[in-house]
Amino acid sequence: MGLFRTLASSFILLIFIYVSHQLTRFTDFTWIGTTAVIILLAFLFALVIGTFLFFWKEKNLDHRPWRDRLLDGSLTVMAYINFLVSLVILRDVFAFVEKWVMPSQFGNLYSSQATFAMLGLPLVFLIFGNAVIQVGPRLKKVPVFFKNLPKELEGLRLLHITDLHISPSLSPSFVKKLVAQTLRLQPDVIVFTGDILDSFVEKHEEEFKMLAELKAPHGIYYVPGNHEYYWNPQKGLQAFRDIGFHVLINQVQNIAFGPATLQMAGIPDPAALHFREEGPDLARVQKQFTENSFKVLLSHQPSLAAKVQTLGVDLQLSGHTHGGQFFPWNWLIVFFERYAKGLYRIGNMQLYVNQGTGYWGPRLRLGTYCELTEIVLRKEPKTE
Ligand SMILES: [Fe+2]
Repeated sequence: MGLFRTLASSFILLIFIYVSHQLTRFTDFTWIGTTAVIILLAFLFALVIGTFLFFWKEKNLDHRPWRDRLLDGSLTVMAYINFLVSLVILRDVFAFVEKWVMPSQFGNLYSSQATFAMLGLPLVFLIFGNAVIQVGPRLKKVPVFFKNLPKELEGLRLLHITDLHISPSLSPSFVKKLVAQTLRLQPDVIVFTGDILDSFVEKHEEEFKMLAELKAPHGIYYVPGNHEYYWNPQKGLQAFRDIGFHVLINQVQNIAFGPATLQMAGIPDPAALHFREEGPDLARVQKQFTENSFKVLLSHQPSLAAKVQTLGVDLQLSGHTHGGQFFPWNWLIVFFERYAKGLYRIGNMQLYVNQGTGYWGPRLRLGTYCELTEIVLRKEPKTE
């Protein structure tokens, strides 16, 4: 662990050297201007590294108000640095293109004004990104077509919520907005695909009272994500059971619609195994499946889809990716996640990846939004 900390800190230090060099080397700043920029950057980077090392120790994970503020502040600084580094890299790429491919295309990229703009633009991004969070969850309607959909399930509406990350950095008013929106929509079924609670449950009685108001005629189903396992998972899962959610740990719930049956299955996140909890067990799920049912499976991780489709599942619902959450990760996510967001077809199964209803880390989204998905089951018209 000592090695990882050293490597991570050295990596951040290297980024600091690169960014401060690129922001000051070619400008016509006086030595005072150059020193001021370097001191500002050194302070911001030191805050991020310091907070990272401080929270590394598990005993520092408990939430006291001043710690929450420190974490919040340094996450915002981290987001600022993220935008700044992205802009510095983009500028270098443009300068490379200008020098070697298309000369005199972009003007003076390294003027003092350009450098000031690069220091200021991340602040604009922070404000815009935060505004996206303030707007709250946005509804996305997704009709999904199936050849084998029983006619009793035609038009069934499943409201899909994921990656809410209830924690001190998510304001209770966000949860209140989400609950009000959900109640207005009157869905037939509500599903939660993990990373809903990302903190000690005792701290969030208020939010759980709000979630307890949710109702759906055919039930509310829930599977844990990786983040639930970081904070006393058994207590957390019990809190969801206590408010009437069906917590599905390799379990299948049968929902009858006249002669048709919808089987709602759920598997936990593989992170469970690191905490000596029950991990995903697809063989156990398969034993509970019946032949003619319509099968929906909840899995926090979309990456399990290749295995899940071998069970004869019709629809997998997932989250986890946050769609990259903010620039430039909303672009780069495709290099890390095969199924980043939206609808996919894998064999005979369809997979929907919701980009996350809440957010994680800094309070912002840029290039993505807080998604509340209404999945509508539709019969695929016959093609001759
Ligand atoms: Fe998440």
